Amino acid sequence: MFKDRRIIVGITGSIAAYKAIELVSSLKKKGADVYCIMTKSAQKFLTPLTLRTLSQNPVITEMFAEPQLWNVEHVGLAEAADLIMVVPATANIIAKVCYGLADDFLSTTIMATKAPVLLAPAMNHQMYWNPIVQENIASLKQRGYLFVGPGSGDLACGARGQGRLIELEVILGKAEELLFQDKPLQGKKVLVTAGPTREPLDPVRFLTNRSSGRMGYAVAKQAYLLGAEVLLISGPTEIQPFPGVKCLRIETAQEMYQAVLAHAEDCQIIIKTAAVADYRPKSRSAEKIKKRSGGLVLELTNNPDILAELGKKKKEQILVGFAAETEKMLSFAAEKAAQKNLDFIVANDITQEGAGFAGDTNIVSLVFPAGEIKNLGKMSKDDVAKLILQEVIKIMGEKEW
Ligand SMILES: Cc1cc2nc3c(=O)[nH]c(=O)nc-3n(C[C@H](O)[C@H](O)[C@H](O)COP(=O)(O)O)c2cc1C
Repeated sequence: MFKDRRIIVGITGSIAAYKAIELVSSLKKKGADVYCIMTKSAQKFLTPLTLRTLSQNPVITEMFAEPQLWNVEHVGLAEAADLIMVVPATANIIAKVCYGLADDFLSTTIMATKAPVLLAPAMNHQMYWNPIVQENIASLKQRGYLFVGPGSGDLACGARGQGRLIELEVILGKAEELLFQDKPLQGKKVLVTAGPTREPLDPVRFLTNRSSGRMGYAVAKQAYLLGAEVLLISGPTEIQPFPGVKCLRIETAQEMYQAVLAHAEDCQIIIKTAAVADYRPKSRSAEKIKKRSGGLVLELTNNPDILAELGKKKKEQILVGFAAETEKMLSFAAEKAAQKNLDFIVANDITQEGAGFAGDTNIVSLVFPAGEIKNLGKMSKDDVAKLILQEVIKIMGEKEW
């Protein structure tokens, strides 16, 4: 993915420095040519040897040391870089860059580069919210420096709050976004639905399904990376949307119906990955249903068929549905694609290992209304999302409008 891209990873003196190990390893696996620059403080947390082994390049730790490569002089890397990532970025490096200091190899490289610089701050939450740090970040953003994170949660110092290094997946996604300027979905609005719905029985109970939302969140992320303006309408999930993706949270199928119909008309592409409940309890008890002998019979009623409704209203739009089946997957899917006026349907047999709701992989087939089928092998949900969008882009190119 990052083949032939030269990425400089600057590592500074944060307790999160160890996460640079995984970052460098992921960048290498994705084909990047990675050079690491460590500050003096970073070397207290991590040895250059680890990063040298993983990056397969010399690690620069000293401003005035004899270069280990002929072309790595004090601004050589700055000129050669496609992207500089500072992961983790301390309050100190943020301040130094803000004030134009160049007193070590990393700050000098940042001062001398024309490449995009992406900083992933990591620090104690009080440090992060210190108005001086906030002002420095705001000022750097204004000058075009890019930031990703920090995330919230438990911090290494024992406190809770915002300041922890954001997940590597998000940092890698941002890097991907910066390196690949080809944006075939630029100017397009994409609506993605994700996750399960909850159909309340009473104030404490609901009917739901096993959807994790991961597939839809991956589609939203990839559409955003391809340049689209993305609205993600999501049922209850644990996951956070990719930065830049607008997210509207709903709970029930009826709320999903209203939210989707309110926004669908504005969107050129609609991808419905959500596992919307087909039925809801006919009545919702205002009080908690009491335990009693003799069992309980629930009466269910149909929820609106959002996809069918969108298919009826569809004009100059691309509409993609998802079908999770446990039997006769392909024939059900083709029927559904034709009946609901879809451009194609993404069908998965959720009984297969590595497919469906849980986990990070999926095994799907793209089924077209005329009966054509494209089987995709087992792959990550991000890769499935990319192939779905590739198909959408191809169809978009074939349409007259
Ligand atoms: C155990 C320990 C953990 C630290 N963690 C952080 C951190 O997460 N973020 C931060 O901004 N500073 C942290 N510091 C302070 C920095 O290491 C210190 O400000 C240093 O001067 C940063 O230098 P550098 O930016 O050149 O790497 C930590 C210090 C220690 C001793």
